[in-house]
Amino acid sequence: MRIVLGVSSGIAIYKAVDLASKLRKEGHELHVVMTPDATRMISPVVFSAVGNCSVYHDWMDVRNGWIPHTEISRTADVLVVAPATANTISKIANGIADNLLTLVALAFDKDAKILVPTMNYRMYSNKLFQENLEKLKNNGWFVVEPEEGHLACGEVGKGRYPENEKIVEAVHLLTFPKKLAGKKVLITAGPTRERIDAVRFITNASSGKMGYALATVAKRMGARVSLVSGPTSLKPPYYVDEFVKVESAEEMYEEVMKRFEDTDIVIMNAAVGDYRPKKVFEGKLKKTENDLVLHLERTKDILKELGQRKSNQILVGFAAEVENFEENAVKKLREKNLDLLVLNDARKAFSSDRVEVYIYGRDGFIKRIDEDDKIRVACGILDVVSNLAGGSPS
Ligand code: CTP
Repeated sequence: MRIVLGVSSGIAIYKAVDLASKLRKEGHELHVVMTPDATRMISPVVFSAVGNCSVYHDWMDVRNGWIPHTEISRTADVLVVAPATANTISKIANGIADNLLTLVALAFDKDAKILVPTMNYRMYSNKLFQENLEKLKNNGWFVVEPEEGHLACGEVGKGRYPENEKIVEAVHLLTFPKKLAGKKVLITAGPTRERIDAVRFITNASSGKMGYALATVAKRMGARVSLVSGPTSLKPPYYVDEFVKVESAEEMYEEVMKRFEDTDIVIMNAAVGDYRPKKVFEGKLKKTENDLVLHLERTKDILKELGQRKSNQILVGFAAEVENFEENAVKKLREKNLDLLVLNDARKAFSSDRVEVYIYGRDGFIKRIDEDDKIRVACGILDVVSNLAGGSPS
């Protein structure tokens, strides 16, 4: 992807240096365009070295007939303006083109246009400014909203530069083929916790990373995504439409069932606990000299019940096996009336950031996805899901 990073003179400009580095590490071809005031805050040399890229700031720098604003805008796939000051945003909104960045913005005619407004909160909430921002949103600009918090001026309010990972994710969101456009996808992730007493519980080692990666990629593919998650240490994926935190298998059951009818695709990635203590002790259980016997009872099998209730939904289950992989996978798929089953090796699945999976459908083995990071594996899984859902890239 060829990305133009437009940098204006917000005080958060130093964070845009890290953004240049992150975009470069993602493998994009980067070009930086700075406003004249931005070059007074940070030297173009810094962006050029960190982003390993060309930096432009003079619209008069016409060499051998190469006109900066028309060439830069014509050859770019994505335009990201970060930080975008109130001045730059308002100029772009009104078609004013008095420096190289505003000229590039005016000449850029692709869909992937991202703005990252950062400023004092009183400027941000100014009615005129908001009207200009609204105008840009209505003209196809994607706005990564500023965050609330301490501002450079010492005041507190909405106007802070967001996390660069969120801006990088916006690039994926805008450029990924929309194979799941119009689909409502429900994903479960993480472990569940079954209480023993007020401070103890039974759980498992699921990190939630695979489910969160699936939610991230489903969103990139254009789906409406609800993520129902057991307790994890992960941040909710950016841009998912709904993030629901649950603790026990029973809570997960309730949240999934509530949404099932109005869902096209359910991906049950959560490592739902199969058993829970029959009795939850009040307060904190005291130790004695004797052994302690915990009686466990089965939780509801959410996926099995979805399989019984389903009408047109596509149901995807996960299985972690240690032996007889294919035999167990096919058996599980049939027993739970699934459309797809994603199988991985239980000995590796929980502990690693990388996984290898095998996908089975109603007619047997479909595809193996070689060991890779979970985002890439999620792309492979969702490609198969979207084929089944009749999705085509747009
Ligand atoms: N699942 C569920 N509700 C449960 C348990 C599991 O919905 N109470 C879902 C999981 O989210 C996963 C699939 O069912 O998609 C896993 O099936 P399961 O039969 O539990 O497989 P394993 O965890 O591998 O367990 P076992 O081998 O003991 O059958």
